[in-house]
Amino acid sequence: MAFTYSEKVMDHFANPRNVGEIENADGIGEVGNSKCGDIMKMYLKVEDNTITDVKFKTFGCGAAIATSSMATELIKGKTIDEALKLTNKAVMEALDGLPPVKVHCSVLAEEAIKSAVSDYYTRQGIDPEPIVGKV
Ligand code: FES
Repeated sequence: MAFTYSEKVMDHFANPRNVGEIENADGIGEVGNSKCGDIMKMYLKVEDNTITDVKFKTFGCGAAIATSSMATELIKGKTIDEALKLTNKAVMEALDGLPPVKVHCSVLAEEAIKSAVSDYYTRQGIDPEPIVGKV
């Protein structure tokens, strides 16, 4: 089956933004995709409740790379609350869509952000579950 990817997906896949890790990150999230077993790691730097830097690393496919790249762009400079509201649907829309069989890949970024925020709150001595939900 041939897939058609949007130009934006191809751009973020070929030139992913915010790849790497952050030394002394304030929150680190790691999640696995239940559908394909691929892994995503997300690093956050937080100041005054604002995400000042974010980086990711993934063993995921091209769609996972593109969605994470876009997701990190969308949450950089935003408050934690705003970042938690980012859905995989919004990320896909920002990329002009994904083929239906690749939708599950976009969930990795959303879950990795939640996992990293959860870790951030835990490090602050705050129970993350009422805020972030179960990760
Ligand atoms: Fe695993 Fe896309 S196939 S993240």
